[in-house]
Amino acid sequence: MENFSEIYKQKLTSAEGIAQMIKSGYNCASPICMGEPVDIMNAIARRVKNGEIENIKTNGTLNIGNRDYFNEEFAGKFDFRSWFFGAGSRKGGQEGRFDYFSYNYSDYPRIYDMRNDLDALLMVVSPMDEHGYFSTGAYFGETLGMLRNAKHVFVEVNKYMPRTFGENFIHISQVEAVCENHEPIIELPVSSISENDYKIGGYIAEMVPDGATIQIGIGGISGALGKALADKKDLGIHTEMFSDAMVELIECGAVTNERKTFHKRQSVSTFCFGSKKVYDYINNNPSLVMLPVDYVNDPYNIAKNDNFISVNAGLEVDFFGQVCSESIGPVPFSGPGGQFDYVKGAKMSRGGRSFIAMPSTAKKGTISKIKPMLTTGAAVTSHKNEVDCIVTEYGVAQLFGKTMRERTEELINIAHPDFREELRFEAKKMNILI
Ligand code: COA
Repeated sequence: MENFSEIYKQKLTSAEGIAQMIKSGYNCASPICMGEPVDIMNAIARRVKNGEIENIKTNGTLNIGNRDYFNEEFAGKFDFRSWFFGAGSRKGGQEGRFDYFSYNYSDYPRIYDMRNDLDALLMVVSPMDEHGYFSTGAYFGETLGMLRNAKHVFVEVNKYMPRTFGENFIHISQVEAVCENHEPIIELPVSSISENDYKIGGYIAEMVPDGATIQIGIGGISGALGKALADKKDLGIHTEMFSDAMVELIECGAVTNERKTFHKRQSVSTFCFGSKKVYDYINNNPSLVMLPVDYVNDPYNIAKNDNFISVNAGLEVDFFGQVCSESIGPVPFSGPGGQFDYVKGAKMSRGGRSFIAMPSTAKKGTISKIKPMLTTGAAVTSHKNEVDCIVTEYGVAQLFGKTMRERTEELINIAHPDFREELRFEAKKMNILI
C-alpha cells in the first residue's frame, strides 16, 4: 500500500501557504457553510488587502458566520457570490454588494458543470484515513460538481469535522495542498419553539402516516415538527438537511427507516446542520449516508419513497398558491434551496404530501403572510401548480386540485382572523369570490 501519510506530509503547508497559491483573477468556491475553510479565506483576504492579488471571486452557500472578505473594503477586489444567503452574508446581499445565484439546490452541480469556470475549490475535511481518503463530514451537497470543474483543490483538515459515509470522500491524490485548522464546527443557533410552531407541527403530524419518509427544511418550524412526530412509528429520513429534529426522532424511536421504499434502513442526506448533538450523532455512523445533492434532491429519487412528506417554511403565499420563501419583496433573504425539489418530489411520490408552513402573520402581527398577490418583486420559490398544503396556526389549506375560488377560501380560512375580512374584500375585487 502506498504511504499516504508521506504524501500528506509533502502536501502539508499553512493557510498562508495555500493563500500564496491563489492568483489574481481566480474564481474560487467553497461548499456549504461549515465546508468553507475560514483560515484559508482569511489568509487570502490578507493578500488582497496587501495588494498582492486582486480581482478574486468566491462562491459560497448558507454562510452563517462573518468573514473578513464580506467587509465593504473588499468590494471589487474579493467578490462574494452567494448560492443561498445565510445570516453572515445576508446584509451584503441586501445591500447589493454580493451577487447571487438563485436556483433549485438539485441544480447546483450541473451549473458548476455548465459554467466550468472554477479555478480553486477550498474545503474543510475530516482527518485522512490510512487509505488516503478525507470525508467531507457534515456537508456534501454540490461538492462533486465543484470537484469535477476546479483546476486546483485545497483542503483544510479539521479534527472536529465528523467522519461520515456515503460518496463524500476525496483522496489525497486529488488535492494540491493541505493545511490544518482544528476548530469546532459552526452550529445552527437553536430557535425557540413558539406556541404557533407547536400548533403548526400538530396539524402536520395529524397528516403524517406511520411509515412515511420525511424531509424537514430550515427555519423555526423544524424543532416543533420534530416533537410533534415523536409518537409516529417507522418513519424514514430522506432530506437535504439532517438536523437536530432528525436526531431527536431517531433517538425517541419514531424513525427506524425500516419501511422506506428507497435506501431502506438508511437515513439519506446531503448536509447536516444543527447543534453539536447532530455532529456527534453523525460521526462514524453508517446509518446515515451522505450523497450528492443532484441525487438526493432529484424529484424522481425523492418520489421513489412512498408516502413522502416534505415540510418547508415560507415567507408569504398569495391567493394563486404561489409561495415566496426566499425574498422580502425584491430584497433577497435566503434562497430557494431545495424547497421546490421536495414539493415536486413529494407530489410524485405514491401517497406523498408537501407542506409549506408559516405563522399567519409577520412583524408582530402587523403583516398577513397570506396575501391576495405576492409583494411586488417577491420571487416565486414554489409554483402554484405544484404547491399542495399551506399550514398556519389556524389549520391546513389543501390547495392542490382545487379551483381558484376554493383555494382562496382555504387560504382565507387559515389567515389570521384580523386580516380575513380584508382578504375577502380583496378576493371579491379580484372577482375570485362573489
Ligand atoms: N413580510 C415581511 N417580513 C417577513 C415576512 C413577510 N411576509 N415573513 C417573515 N418576515 C420576516 C420575519 O419577521 C423575520 O424577520 P426578522 O429576521 O427581522 O425577525 C424574517 O423575515 C424571517 O422570518 P422567519 O419566519 O423567522 O423565518 P425562518 O427562520 O422560520 O425561515 C424561511 C423561514 C422561509 C426564510 C426559510 O425556511 C428559508 O430560507 N427557506 C428557503 C427555502 C427552503 O425552504 N429550502 C428548503 C429547505 S433547506
